[in-house]
Amino acid sequence: MAGGPGGTGGGVSGGSLMVTMLISAFAAFGGILFGYDTGTISGIIAMEDWLLTFGTFGTLPADRAAELSTTEGYYLTTGDKSLTVSILSAGTFVGALLAYPLGDRLGRKYGLIVACVIFVLGVGIQLDTKFAAFIVGRVVAGLGVGMISCLVPMYQSECAPKQYRGFIVGLYQWAITIGLLLAAIVNESTKDRPDHSAWRIPIAIQFVWAFVLAGGMFVLPESPRFLLLKGRDVEARKALSRLTRRPAESPEIDQECLDISMALEAEMALGKTSYIDCFRSGEARNGLRTWTGILIQGMQQLTGINFIFYYGTTFFRRSGISNPFIITIITNVVNVVMTIPGILLIDRAGRRSLLLWGAVVMLVCEYLVAIVGVTRGQVDAATGAINLPAQRVLIAFVCLYIAAFASTWGPIAWVVTGEIFPLAIRGKAMSMSTASNWLWNFGIGYATPYLVDAPTTGVNGVKTANLGVKVFFLWGSTCLLCVVFTYFFVPETKGLSLEQVDLLYRESSIIKSNSYRKEMLARDETFIHRDTGHGTDKPVDNKHLEEGTAHVEHEKAGNNIAV
Ligand code: BGC
Repeated sequence: MAGGPGGTGGGVSGGSLMVTMLISAFAAFGGILFGYDTGTISGIIAMEDWLLTFGTFGTLPADRAAELSTTEGYYLTTGDKSLTVSILSAGTFVGALLAYPLGDRLGRKYGLIVACVIFVLGVGIQLDTKFAAFIVGRVVAGLGVGMISCLVPMYQSECAPKQYRGFIVGLYQWAITIGLLLAAIVNESTKDRPDHSAWRIPIAIQFVWAFVLAGGMFVLPESPRFLLLKGRDVEARKALSRLTRRPAESPEIDQECLDISMALEAEMALGKTSYIDCFRSGEARNGLRTWTGILIQGMQQLTGINFIFYYGTTFFRRSGISNPFIITIITNVVNVVMTIPGILLIDRAGRRSLLLWGAVVMLVCEYLVAIVGVTRGQVDAATGAINLPAQRVLIAFVCLYIAAFASTWGPIAWVVTGEIFPLAIRGKAMSMSTASNWLWNFGIGYATPYLVDAPTTGVNGVKTANLGVKVFFLWGSTCLLCVVFTYFFVPETKGLSLEQVDLLYRESSIIKSNSYRKEMLARDETFIHRDTGHGTDKPVDNKHLEEGTAHVEHEKAGNNIAV
């Protein structure tokens, strides 16, 4: 049976499986670029030289005044802070939407290379000392990050062996967390430099990530599923042959190509697909799938995770914690380390149960953080004293919450969006889902300072909701929504090939998906051997098979394109 390159069960040797794994895993490097870029900003905007270069002079907000023991100086107004942090996500939103035409015209491989070039441009612009240029640079870099954030999981899930797809796409999330950690470490080590190098070094390091990713993609094969979608069968065979280390003419590759082509044809029978088609209900249930992708990515942001990663430093400082930079490093280490059990479990425990458990643990931790913070965590206004045990409990629950995110919603949101769409709409639907991640990322990034910060007075004074730690009540409640959403929207797809996931959507309900999945695996059901459930195979469209083979033969004779 077909099952993703290298997914042909017993026939694949350990060595070739390793090659497939390495190829699809390399793309995860894009995650470092994503994580680092989003992570670096929270530290940069707190740096002395950056504030001197881009900040506003005036009455300092209370926390900064206390830190500097003065009432006036350079600081970032709430408006500029929101803009600087969240503008990247505005670029990434557009970038994610552009990932579809880019990945569809140029392919996943060259699409990723172009995205790296755009990113490099944006990084270069951010090295300027004008605030406007800095913001423009963030938008341009954001375009690149947005494209990469969509094309990487797309490429990985189209190339990965089915039984390791969750693990491999999970590696992308792991790379994101490593990128976030690296950003925190680099910021910490350059923040006290007395000149522009304090923030220019962390920004310029990003050139390295882009060069490695673009260079690597240059030598990797294109996604065979993309090539088949474009009718480039000969190239698809060569890509599959490189991924699986089998001769392009081997029976396994014949079968793989046919299974993908048949699933594709079932989709294509409906004609060319538009964005509207992504939302249509019908046998393929595209509407349900697209909404699931859009919502799971939005929900991932609504868990509140980026509150910690974008504003953690400032938040912990405000809660009276003496070394907030160190706490930021700790939270990042928890994020990196706890992603590992997550990605090891995805293909064992399954997507659905991990998402449910993750949301429950997060909601409990977040409510507890809010309760401890409100009842015991306040800084004494008169003496400035803090309740140390309460602060420790607070940090412990924040870490537990991050651990729950890292081992469930972090990786699985990307795994689910990489695998639930049929090939004919995959590009469009994945780009809309990724754009939803960035839209919420932007909204939450922009709104957070207004929700959490204390109001400021003076000429640049801003009114805020001043929620402080109470904001965790909000994140706890959104996690409750995550539980409900998972129950009704997310099917169990562990161990299925992308084509089998397609069949699952056509033939089973979400709630019963796990038992249907098991039956499907037991019957070894594919598009070629589609079982009606009554013990007889639906008739195979022999005409299609013959035509498919004839088409491949024709291409073999006519073209000889290197992949
Ligand atoms: C999210 C990011 C988040 C990161 C934290 C990713 O999956 O999309 O917004 O910062 O996880 O690890």
